[in-house]
Amino acid sequence: MKDLLKILDLSKEEILEILNLADQMKYESKNGIAHRVLEGKTLAMIFQKSSTRTRVSFEVGMYQLGGYALFLTHNDLQIGRGEPVEDTSRVLSRYVNGIMTRTFAQEEVESLAKWSCIPVINGLTDFEHPCQILADLMTIREYHSALEGVKIGYIGDGNNVCNSLIAGALKCGMKISVATPKGYEPHADTLAFAKGNPDFVLTTSPEEAAKDADVLYTDVWASMGMEEEAQQRMKAFAGFQVNDEIMNLAHPKAIVQHCLPAHRGEEITAEVFEAHANPIFDEAENRLHAQKAIMAMLMG
Ligand code: CP
Ligand code: NVA
Repeated sequence: MKDLLKILDLSKEEILEILNLADQMKYESKNGIAHRVLEGKTLAMIFQKSSTRTRVSFEVGMYQLGGYALFLTHNDLQIGRGEPVEDTSRVLSRYVNGIMTRTFAQEEVESLAKWSCIPVINGLTDFEHPCQILADLMTIREYHSALEGVKIGYIGDGNNVCNSLIAGALKCGMKISVATPKGYEPHADTLAFAKGNPDFVLTTSPEEAAKDADVLYTDVWASMGMEEEAQQRMKAFAGFQVNDEIMNLAHPKAIVQHCLPAHRGEEITAEVFEAHANPIFDEAENRLHAQKAIMAMLMG
């Protein structure tokens, strides 16, 4: 594995290898064991969209691994003025040991990886959010002790997070039911991957997706870059909310996952969010541990 571009690229074994190392690093770091496996190494982080978790967890993670992270925005780099990705990629390959990027087009991340001789990590595109889903799988395993056979009900937009979640869940032998309004289904490539898998259900009924779920997952109705569609989406997504009625259909021990940031009163009620705040913030914490494992494996 040279890069982490999308969950669709990973095998079950590769996913489990990352999760196992992340568990070990989390346990050891809480017991005072340092992992300075990237001493003297540098990560370039390029952001074309806002970020709290991804930016801070990568920067802190790199520091804890003994390395250094550079925070760069598209607009500050020449890439924002049209310098080709293939040139940016070859230049950065001469200075740093890895690139993490958050952008719009998946093709940009794929192209960075193609032209670089260093690992490239997708920190979110419109197509996938692989680092998020590795942290989510880690969290689900912490709460339910296993992944195999665990049922996820995803309610909301068939977006980047949803695409990665479907790929990750099915690769790990989980069941996943996705409820989206008509016209907001997951990406065609994700649906092609899931097609024919008896563990995958796509529906327009949030109730059907929530039924007997061990994990209820939701994300914002309008992702970054879709702000001008927000009004139209508010109407389309009415009813696609994780609330008490939906929770009552799930397994009594169901946990809630949300990649954050959350919009209370839209995709999730404030009551459900606060009642399930522990697994949601464990999920946010696990971004750090999962990404340290990813960086150690790719850049170590
Ligand atoms: N979940 C997530 O990626 O959060 P940020 O947008 O804050 O990085
Ligand atoms: N789907 C959201 C996830 C944010 C972490 C977005 O792309 O804005």
